[in-house]
Amino acid sequence: MAHARRPLIAGNWKMHKTVAQTRAFIAELLAAALPEEIDVVIAPPFTALEAAHDALGESPVFLGAQTMHEGAQGPFTGEISPVMLIELGVTYVILGHSERRLQFGESDASINNKVRSAIAHGITPVVAVGETEAEHAAGVARVRVVSQTVAAFAGVTAADAGRCVVAYEPIWAIGTGLVDSPEGANAVIGEIRACVAGLENARLLYGGSMKGENAAALMAQPNIDGGLVGGASLTVPGFLAIVEAARARANA
Ligand code: 13P
Repeated sequence: MAHARRPLIAGNWKMHKTVAQTRAFIAELLAAALPEEIDVVIAPPFTALEAAHDALGESPVFLGAQTMHEGAQGPFTGEISPVMLIELGVTYVILGHSERRLQFGESDASINNKVRSAIAHGITPVVAVGETEAEHAAGVARVRVVSQTVAAFAGVTAADAGRCVVAYEPIWAIGTGLVDSPEGANAVIGEIRACVAGLENARLLYGGSMKGENAAALMAQPNIDGGLVGGASLTVPGFLAIVEAARARANA
């Protein structure tokens, strides 16, 4: 039986790839046969979105942005609005990534503003939550991610929340090779699913050192509908290995 929540694999390229590199990646990706049973998203830097949109053409791969401002336009030097993203074919936006929270001062309140704006503009938020290494060691991971999730979805209806995506990314697992255990990630994601009305229907992802070698075991867990992938999404073979693992979940 096909899974009710369609698996989703999203590549977060972070500050990687020029326009030329983006075009080369997409040409290589589209030469592969992508599974029809899952959704695939790539999130290049802002500067490569237009080229990515052009190169993706009519392919089923969705385009994501890595953050956005909540306003439609205004005096916000350096910021990018949802209206600008929609014009470039963007349908997903990563919001609240730990790198944005920790290095660029994004608060729970500003992430909530962005989530509500994305929904209002018809862009699907991929809300990232996760605990630090110290919080993990102190045993407060679940409390931390539940509080981030509740804050991100304040004022969002259950119906809208159900169409959103949340990615659990333990910060100690990002870019470290220290992947969370499938059971541990499943338990935390289960708490995320239960803490906001509507998230029982949402796609909930794991992120943090996801690779071809560990993706299938993670996505075999009942609560893990896919992955938000950093480093392994930067090469087509690395990304495809995870996409193939998600196909197995779709057909489970
Ligand atoms: P890595 O897959 O490189 O650990 O990054 C995860 C991440 O932060 C995706 O948003």
